[in-house]
Amino acid sequence: MRLLVVGGGGREHALIKALKKNPKIEKIFALPGNGGIAADAECVGINAKDIPSIVDFAVANAVDFAVVAPDDPLVLGAVDELNAAGIPCFGPDKAAAAIEGSKVFAKELMQKYGIPTADFEVFDDADSALEYLKSCEYPAVIKADGLALGKGVVIPSNFEEAQEAIRTIMVDRAFGASGNRVIIEQCLKGPEVSVLAFADGKTVVPMVSSMDHKRIGDGDVGPNTGGMGAVAPNPYYTKEIASECMERIFLPTIDAMNKEGRPFRGCLYFGLMLTASGPMVIEYNCRFGDPETQVVLPLMESDLLSAMLATANGTLADTPIRFGSGSACCVVAASKGYPKAYETGKEIHLKGADELPNVDVFHAGTALKDGKLTTSGGRVLGVTAVADDLGTAIEKAYAAASRIEFDGIYTRKDIGKRALAANNTR
Ligand code: AMP
Ligand code: GLY
Repeated sequence: MRLLVVGGGGREHALIKALKKNPKIEKIFALPGNGGIAADAECVGINAKDIPSIVDFAVANAVDFAVVAPDDPLVLGAVDELNAAGIPCFGPDKAAAAIEGSKVFAKELMQKYGIPTADFEVFDDADSALEYLKSCEYPAVIKADGLALGKGVVIPSNFEEAQEAIRTIMVDRAFGASGNRVIIEQCLKGPEVSVLAFADGKTVVPMVSSMDHKRIGDGDVGPNTGGMGAVAPNPYYTKEIASECMERIFLPTIDAMNKEGRPFRGCLYFGLMLTASGPMVIEYNCRFGDPETQVVLPLMESDLLSAMLATANGTLADTPIRFGSGSACCVVAASKGYPKAYETGKEIHLKGADELPNVDVFHAGTALKDGKLTTSGGRVLGVTAVADDLGTAIEKAYAAASRIEFDGIYTRKDIGKRALAANNTR
């Protein structure tokens, strides 16, 4: 089989490494891929948002199956266009991708179908949003409606901060048209859990749970990032909570999307908060999460390609999907300055980190320049280790990450610390 993977980050590297375990795959193209993915797939310099070029490439190169991994092409309708050109895909069509593409759509869906989520109001002009913010409870949560590179959520602790957020999103349009509408919602409390699930429009198969680390600084301080590390499984996500989520959140969401005439086929990401009044949905994503994928897939024992084909064909119910009982930890190595303006073009020395047993070094922002591996993004590498227990996985991931050198390298030092403490109290 000839595969095409759209995207070029750590998530895509993890997907490609997992897909490659299937001997039926003779070729993988990555559009655009990156410096590390180049060792596992043929990278082609086509932007992940350039849908006409992606379709032309897929047709011209006799691609049998395409995996569309990032949010932008999914929300823009890449799957619809590839399907129209006769190419089967893993990923939701444009109508179903709205579950991530519009937070207003997602919130109204949850409200309509009784899926637990924070109470909210929608505003389409800055003045009425500000009027509401004058008398609401703080901290409040303000979200831009559309995609915003994971930066469209602000949690102001007073009216002044809220005013600034509204100005950034709705007046200065920092995220463009994504700021045409905002949601202001109740601030929930509790541990966060990410659950990625295969969904074929009928059956939903959750993967092993995980925990992201979104803030830049140790102890969860500082600005939000794309994710500075992850662990799996998430110790807060017990069997009891998992079955409650299946009944009250996962199945009702699949059902709601069907009733709306938008059957979801692909990876549905549930961002959950385990509150005192039960699990609630913080956000949906229409795709694999990053860095979560970098800890979830290394624990997958069954074949990823079979699961993806079954998702596309609607045969998930007949497809065995298994995860191992071990734990995984991913430590992200970022460029100096990230998540603000950051440096690039620094030479990377892996120093054997990628050759250690049970360790994967996934490339996110790397490029090959004159045969040398250099930094080209904010998040540069995801260093994942798998072990029987979480403590060992954390140690091994840090031992591998500490070998790696590039100018200005930054890692959080406490990935998995909270999960480990929660594990030990159980
Ligand atoms: P998102 O970009 O939607 O994943 O939101 C980013 C982060 O904001 C989440 O991971 C949560 O930590 C936080 N967040 C979003 N919504 C809420 C909420 N209603 N209450 C508390 N925290 C929230
Ligand atoms: N790690 C969160 C996301 O992929 O959106």
